[in-house]
Amino acid sequence: MRITQHPILTFDRGKEIHFTFNGRPMKGYEGETIAAALHAAGVKVLAKSLEKHRPRGFYCAIGHCASCQMIVDGEPNVRTCITLLREGMTVETQEGKGRIK
Ligand code: FES
Repeated sequence: MRITQHPILTFDRGKEIHFTFNGRPMKGYEGETIAAALHAAGVKVLAKSLEKHRPRGFYCAIGHCASCQMIVDGEPNVRTCITLLREGMTVETQEGKGRIK
């Protein structure tokens, strides 16, 4: 869900950006973060806790908590709440601490 109307704010959408999430084609808009685009598409679970593998989603949304870490273009531990979408990027759910290639 995206906010489209607000009494005092305007939302200028950038161009459409295409990316994949766990192999599924997805779309967002230029200027959005990965986590925001996933959230708008109904994806609420971004990561799992390290020990008990409990679902994690948006928490701080400012890059301070690591609740949204995912694998982006093969790089683990990317905080998707502060990483902007780029055309063609691949985003994957991360299990555990992530492996550095
Ligand atoms: S939600 Fe806290 S770092 Fe992304």
